[in-house]
Amino acid sequence: MPRITVPEIRSAKGKRKLVSVTAYDAPMAKLAEQAGVELLLVGDSVAMVVLGRDNTLEVTMDEMLHHTRAVVRGSERAHVVLDMPFMSYQTGEDDAMRNAGRALKEAGASSIKLEGGSRLAPLVSRLVDSGVPVMGHIGLQPQSVNQVGGFVTQGRDTHAADVIIADAIALADAGAYAMVIEKVPVELAEYITKRVPVPTIGIGCGPHCDGQVLVVHDALGFNDGFHPRHAKQYLSLAGPIRDALTAYVAEVRDGRFPAEEHAVHANAQLAAHLKERV
Ligand code: KIV
Repeated sequence: MPRITVPEIRSAKGKRKLVSVTAYDAPMAKLAEQAGVELLLVGDSVAMVVLGRDNTLEVTMDEMLHHTRAVVRGSERAHVVLDMPFMSYQTGEDDAMRNAGRALKEAGASSIKLEGGSRLAPLVSRLVDSGVPVMGHIGLQPQSVNQVGGFVTQGRDTHAADVIIADAIALADAGAYAMVIEKVPVELAEYITKRVPVPTIGIGCGPHCDGQVLVVHDALGFNDGFHPRHAKQYLSLAGPIRDALTAYVAEVRDGRFPAEEHAVHANAQLAAHLKERV
């Protein structure tokens, strides 16, 4: 079965909700796909939730390719989006073209995602003309965290909202097949969703977008000290994982693990040989 295509995603608008989560490795990609997730986003959030960094800025193109390959290997049907990391496309159109090409050719991504609005429109057109499907990302853009002063809601006043609306329209006009809208007021996300002809995928901006995306580690509760308001936690994995590993530590220390069923014994010949060697 071929992977879910850009036309299939575009045609979902107004008909059914699109569902996306981030994925950074093969087992999670497989489970998410089995659950019905159609869009696997290899987010640059990998820097924070997997690689232990404070923000998304440090992750490299090579690291994104590495994680995307794993997600592609772990899934069959899902559309896999590689999130272009900081400075893989801001340094010039040629760099952007080269890195986007690597995403599709070297990692097998189905499309790429870029953070930014109107200023990226010429680049988005060039990528799309070259056959690279582009998902936009407007509202809060975590790669600009140093510029905006934190992971805070955007578009709260009329001017800021108008800028984000212009960003959405520019991206859609430039050929983006969908766009993430992150952390804007519910009413603004609703307006943009009605205004643009391509699907909007919301995170932290209410129920009116054409789809939703969550960082999978937030949804599954990997980090028990972190509960962002926008993310519903469907599971609290941190506790059970810690309990399981605590049991493992105790069993190794007191000799209960490994048990007989976890080991393979030498055959008679090898056992005799080992005895003779002493
Ligand atoms: O990197 C990421 O996980 C993202 C989503 C939050 C949309 O960009």
